[in-house]
Amino acid sequence: MSTQVRFLTKNFGAYDTNSIGAYMNIGGFKALRKAVTMDPEDICTMLSDAKIRGRGGAEYPLGRKWSQARAVKGENKVIICNADEGETTTFKDRELIKNDPFNLIEAMIIAGFVCGATDGYIYMRAEYACYRPILLNAIRQAKNYGFLGENILGKGFDFNIHLYSGGGAYVCGEGTALIRSIEGKAGRPRMKPPFIKVSGVFARPTCLNNVESLSLVPHLLLDQDTYMNCGMGESIGTKLVSVAGNVNNPGVFEIPFGTTIRDIIYNLAGGIQHDREIQLIQFGGASGKVSDASILDTPYTYDDLRAAGVMVGSGGLLVIDKRTSVLDFLRMNQEFFSEESCGQCTPCREGNLHIKIILDKLAKGEATEQDIKTMSTIAKVMSMSSLCGLGETAQNTLQSAMKKFPEVFAIGGTKA
Ligand SMILES: Cc1cc2nc3c(=O)[nH]c(=O)nc-3n(C[C@H](O)[C@H](O)[C@H](O)COP(=O)(O)O)c2cc1C
Ligand code: SF4
Repeated sequence: MSTQVRFLTKNFGAYDTNSIGAYMNIGGFKALRKAVTMDPEDICTMLSDAKIRGRGGAEYPLGRKWSQARAVKGENKVIICNADEGETTTFKDRELIKNDPFNLIEAMIIAGFVCGATDGYIYMRAEYACYRPILLNAIRQAKNYGFLGENILGKGFDFNIHLYSGGGAYVCGEGTALIRSIEGKAGRPRMKPPFIKVSGVFARPTCLNNVESLSLVPHLLLDQDTYMNCGMGESIGTKLVSVAGNVNNPGVFEIPFGTTIRDIIYNLAGGIQHDREIQLIQFGGASGKVSDASILDTPYTYDDLRAAGVMVGSGGLLVIDKRTSVLDFLRMNQEFFSEESCGQCTPCREGNLHIKIILDKLAKGEATEQDIKTMSTIAKVMSMSSLCGLGETAQNTLQSAMKKFPEVFAIGGTKA
C-alpha cells in the first residue's frame, strides 16, 4: 500500500495564501535567507547531488541548467517560470500555484540569485486566469517586504517578477515560442541556435524552468535529508503525478520515486471505475508513450519507466479502460496534434495531417499495408526533422502503440 508524501506539498493548506506574514510564520523566505549566504555554485551542486531533472517534460538536469545559466556572460539575465501547463492530463503545476504561491516566488528569487538574473517572468496558461490575483498579490507583498526590488536582503542583488498570460496554444509551452509570446509576437518556435540560455527573451540570456522544478528548490535548501532519503536508484526524492481518465479518484499526488504504477492507480487514484480492465496508460501527456497493464508493477522511476518503453515526462498519467479502443484513442490524440501544430514546418504540418488521415482510414477498415508503412515512415521523419519539440515528439504515442498493440495495425487482423 503506498502512501503519499508531503515534501513539495507540505505547505498546502498550512497557510493563508493571501498573506506573506502567514507564509513567513511557517518558515517562508528562510530558504532565500539561507541561499544568499551560500556560494551560488554550491546551490547548483546541491541540485545536481539530488539528481533533480526538469519536471516540464524534457527531464534536463536542473543543477546543470543553473550552472550553465550562471556561466553565460551577459547583462540582465532572465529567469522564466514555465506555467503554461499545456500537456494533456497534466495539472500539477496549478496545484503549486494555487496552494503555495509564495514558495514559487521565493524559488524564482533564489533562481535569480544563483543565475545572476535581474528579472523573472511567469508565463501562465491563459486558462489559469483565476490564479492571476493569487500570484499578483504574492508578487506585490514580496516587493513590499523587500524580497523583490533592489538590494534584496542587503546583498546587493536586484530582482523583479512579471506575470504574463499564455497565448492559448499548446506550442507556447515550448521555450522559443513562449519567449516570442512574451515579446508580443505570435507564439511560434524558432530555430536553435542561438539557444535561449544565450539569447532568450528580448535577446537576454534566459533560464527556463517548470513550476515544479523551481518549487522544489526552497524545500531542498531547508531539508535535504528528507528529499535524499526518498526515492529509488537514480531517481531521488519525490514527484507530483497527475492521474486522469477512467479512475475513481483522479487528482494530483506527491509520490516517492519508486512507487509502483499499480499503487498510483489502484491506491492513490482509487482504481478503475466499475472495476473495468485497463486498456492502456499514457505517460506524460499527448506527446508521451503508452503501455498496457503489463506495466503495473513497474516502479515509477526515470530508468524503470524508460526500460518499460515509456517516460516520466510531464508527470501526467492517463488511464483508459477497455471501453475505448486503442485506435479511437490514437485518433483523438492525433486530432490534438493536427490542431496544435503551428504549421511552420512541413514535417509536422503535413505529417500530423497525413497520419490523421491514415488512422481514420484504418478505423473505417480501408487502410492498406502500404498505408501502415507510410504512417510509420512519416512518424520517423517527423521525429528527426521537425523544427521543434512538438513535431519531434508528436508521434511518441503512435510509435509506442505500434510496438505495444501491433494487432491494431494488422491489416485484416483483430482490432483491440
Ligand atoms: C510543444 C511543447 C510544449 C511544452 N509545454 C510545456 C509546458 O506547458 N510546461 C513546461 O514546464 N514545459 C513545457 N515544455 C518543455 C519546455 O520547453 C522546457 O523544456 C521546460 O519548461 C524546461 O523546464 P524544466 O527543465 O524545469 O523542465 C514544452 C515543450 C514543448 C516542445
Ligand atoms: S514542429 Fe510543428 S509546432 Fe514545431 S515549428 Fe514545426 S510546425 Fe510548428
